[in-house]
Amino acid sequence: MKHLIDPMDLTKEETDEIISLAEDIIAHRERYQGSMSHRKLATLFYEPSTRTRLSFTSAMMELGGSVLGFSDAKNSSVSKGETVQDTVRVVGCFAEVIAMRHYIEGAQLYASEVSPVPIINAGDGSHSHPTQTLTDLLTIKRELGRIDGITIGFCGDLRFGRTVHSLIKALSRYRNVEVILIAPDALKLPDYIKHDVCDKCGVKYREVETMEEVMPELDVLYMTRVQKERFLDEDEFDRVKDSFVLDARRMALAKKNMAVLHPLPRVNEILTEVDSDPRAAYFRQVENGKFVREALILKLHEWKNDPAHPMPEHDRPVFDSSVRCTNSKCICNNEHAPYKFHYTDGGQLRCWYCDSKVR
Ligand code: CP
Repeated sequence: MKHLIDPMDLTKEETDEIISLAEDIIAHRERYQGSMSHRKLATLFYEPSTRTRLSFTSAMMELGGSVLGFSDAKNSSVSKGETVQDTVRVVGCFAEVIAMRHYIEGAQLYASEVSPVPIINAGDGSHSHPTQTLTDLLTIKRELGRIDGITIGFCGDLRFGRTVHSLIKALSRYRNVEVILIAPDALKLPDYIKHDVCDKCGVKYREVETMEEVMPELDVLYMTRVQKERFLDEDEFDRVKDSFVLDARRMALAKKNMAVLHPLPRVNEILTEVDSDPRAAYFRQVENGKFVREALILKLHEWKNDPAHPMPEHDRPVFDSSVRCTNSKCICNNEHAPYKFHYTDGGQLRCWYCDSKVR
């Protein structure tokens, strides 16, 4: 069964097919109305959301389908101790597809191992956010007319920013994409993205410490919020929370057709004076999220039992009782998921569910 847990669960062709379908939905909305009538989407959100949950809801309604679920797991039997695996087994009796957000990394992958219906990862902790990635790719294509050959600067919280991790993975399959990482030491991109994604796929990247030094080169500036909720140490958050602020003065250094993206919500990293700049694409990006999620729902429904659209072949998991995942926010340290690992191309052992290093 086709799930979307990680951006790489889609082939490059499938990704482009979803983006093209979203463009067709934008051009011919009436053609798709009713195409999911009498079908149901469940939204299971264990962590707060505005855009992702409501855009999934709006997308399913546009397609003529219905939506059920919870926006706060405390109001469900999760509060009685029900596991994610049991929850999706149950909800799979009521809905044809499930979009799940969870603060625990790897929760959706673990859920997908038993789910009777496709699972869409709507964000797992600091790990992945593949439907934001589809939104971002569609936005880049609509703003610039292309994805190949862009230079993109990622600015802010690259350590905890799951949208950054997923988008870099997806961009690694496009031609001649250059990545510039703009972050203080404490918020740098995790090694597994730099080595297992960029180095492996030949994505050129470099790390810098100021926006000003790279602004004139960028086709896309991808701003991110410093994610207070992911820090274990509040003093550490206070030291980095105001690292980067985009304002009109810095925008003046950029190309005339650069696009500013942000997955939102923002706090203080983009001043409102930038909103009226035609290059500020972040609210158009929100609307693209609805169209791309319509396209995703339609395609996952079409591909559900199609042998031409399998889940990718992963290496066999390694079971080794002498090692442990070091991530306290991983599903294997929270719901008794088995300790499973995989070897990277560089020979490193990493957690099967969250990609963290092991000890
Ligand atoms: N971009 C995004 O995931 O926003 P929400 O947290 O509001 O869903």
